Amino acid sequence: MSQQRTPLIAGNWKMNGFLEDGAARASDLAGRMKSTGSDGFQMLLCPPATLLNAVGTAIADSGIFLGGQDCHVNPSGAHTGDISAAMLADLCCSHVIVGHSERRADHGEDDALVKAKAEAAIAAGMCAIVCVGETEAQRDAGETNAVVAGQVQGSLPVGADTSNLVIAYEPVWAIGTGRTARPAEAQEVHAVLRQTLNDIAGGEVADHCRILYGGSVKPGNAAELMALADVDGALVGGASLEADDFWSIAMACT
Ligand code: 13P
Repeated sequence: MSQQRTPLIAGNWKMNGFLEDGAARASDLAGRMKSTGSDGFQMLLCPPATLLNAVGTAIADSGIFLGGQDCHVNPSGAHTGDISAAMLADLCCSHVIVGHSERRADHGEDDALVKAKAEAAIAAGMCAIVCVGETEAQRDAGETNAVVAGQVQGSLPVGADTSNLVIAYEPVWAIGTGRTARPAEAQEVHAVLRQTLNDIAGGEVADHCRILYGGSVKPGNAAELMALADVDGALVGGASLEADDFWSIAMACT
């Protein structure tokens, strides 16, 4: 963590949750935010699209931010099943995740599409959370730094500034596996990402852009990850489905 960047603790609920339990979890977290405050961190919930409205209502006035998990590149039109960035903004979303490795794998999304989605998010007035990360085979081949730098180069939106861009480093082999990058491994990649940002977008963006770590972040490993110089928060999957666990991860930033 760095003094000049407020850590962001983001929960990616993925395709999990129904109205009752989703709204209850959001209300629980909103209550904790209101009573304890959020000194030292920001919190973001990215529920499935079906729960955005209910979660948004539950966290209103709590200071917790609301985000989508994906958006279409176009603002509207004949794209059955898709959701535009403008629609997310209409539901008071401030952030949208783009380029998650599950979307890259399940839907064949490439860097160019991720870049277009990030630009759509920014055009709709939101912050784009651009996800990058290497597979296990790429890590074993010693390609990690080149892969993630290439992903940032290919997917960095035009118009990115300090207010509308977050990078999330999620090693694919660490997602949902219980395996986490060792602190030294995570710090090395985050430093590469910050240098890449510096090379493309300049020092101001590089110094102020938050780079989140994701991949099996749990209450038990959050503190050592959040303590790293270039780790500015977490993108949490499984552990964000339990209010106690997610809150503990946020507390690791205080
Ligand atoms: P897990 O925390 O379940 O490993 O998921 C990480 C992730 O993919 C968040 O976007």
